[in-house]
Amino acid sequence: MSTEPRTIRLRAPDNWHAHFRDGPMLDFLVPVFLDSGWRRRIVAMPNITPPVLTGERAVWYRDALLARARAHDPATTFEPVMTIQITESTTGDTVSEARALGVGLGKVYPFMVTTHSGNGVQDYDRIYPALEAAEEVGLVVQFHGEHPSDDIEGLNKEAGFTAILDRIRARFPKLRLTMEHITSRAAVDWVKAQDENVGASITVHHLFTTVDDVLGYSKASGGLMRVHCGCKPQPKWRDDRAALNEIALSGHPRFFYGGDDAAHLRRRKENEGSACGVWNTMAALPLLVDLFDRENKLDRLDPFLSEFGARFYGYDVSAESLTLVEEPWRVPAEVEAPGMGDTVVPMCAGETLKWRVQA
Ligand code: DOR
Ligand code: ZN
Repeated sequence: MSTEPRTIRLRAPDNWHAHFRDGPMLDFLVPVFLDSGWRRRIVAMPNITPPVLTGERAVWYRDALLARARAHDPATTFEPVMTIQITESTTGDTVSEARALGVGLGKVYPFMVTTHSGNGVQDYDRIYPALEAAEEVGLVVQFHGEHPSDDIEGLNKEAGFTAILDRIRARFPKLRLTMEHITSRAAVDWVKAQDENVGASITVHHLFTTVDDVLGYSKASGGLMRVHCGCKPQPKWRDDRAALNEIALSGHPRFFYGGDDAAHLRRRKENEGSACGVWNTMAALPLLVDLFDRENKLDRLDPFLSEFGARFYGYDVSAESLTLVEEPWRVPAEVEAPGMGDTVVPMCAGETLKWRVQA
């Protein structure tokens, strides 16, 4: 009998939603993405400081990302996909200029719902000039789907946001848009009911956790709230998680992987106010392989990771590959963030996972 561990070969996966940050955090994070198997195409979110609001700034950010990647691996084929943030001040010209400079996506944050969203949208009618230009030049718009109104309670904000999207769709039917990091059955059902111009990204943490993990109701939490599981939109109920699992495993071509990898220094998470975000970069691929394997759906993992998103956004499907080995791998309890006098705590910190990414 062979004692060789099982291996799985995937197409090099894409990640349609990730945060690389800026300054020393950027230097730290780019190599972690590459070493964790995210070596090909990654969408770089614009909520850095100052934010990416123009094509020119996106080009600067892309060059910064590429320089870090090439310093780490001179042969890298890493391809950052650039975004600009669309705010109430974004003009149609800004959108067209960004598109001409190679920016593929626009990202819309609701006001004051998440990290660096003080410039987010309160009145969605005010982004219509930008959406009109996006529809015309073919910029795909990613929405953080949570309603900014204080009248809608936190766990209902995602379902409430579909009313805003219904209005946008009625006005701009040819606009290609996504609902990002969806967390609820309501969002799954809404996206399913749309046409081919609407997609959705799903993170690994929303496939695995519920609100009980964040609030410390699961036995494993020992009764303590777990801020490192906290993000926006927050994980919801078990039925919502089941809906996300069903759709991700079903091979529906408008649902694809976007990790929302959102590292924050420990002191920003373990504080009176805790920054939103799960740092899942290292654990994501081992967890996804395990999930699809347990459900006997490994053949559906490749399309979820590297085909459906590429098709939706209009990119070629990667010809490269990535291998994972079925060998126990312990996720570090924390990782030092060089030059920042602190660490970052990864998803599944200290846990042993079944699969590891081959170097
Ligand atoms: O949890 C989150 N973290 N959600 C977001 O929308 C932003 C992200 C971040 O930048 O930290
Ligand atoms: Zn995000």
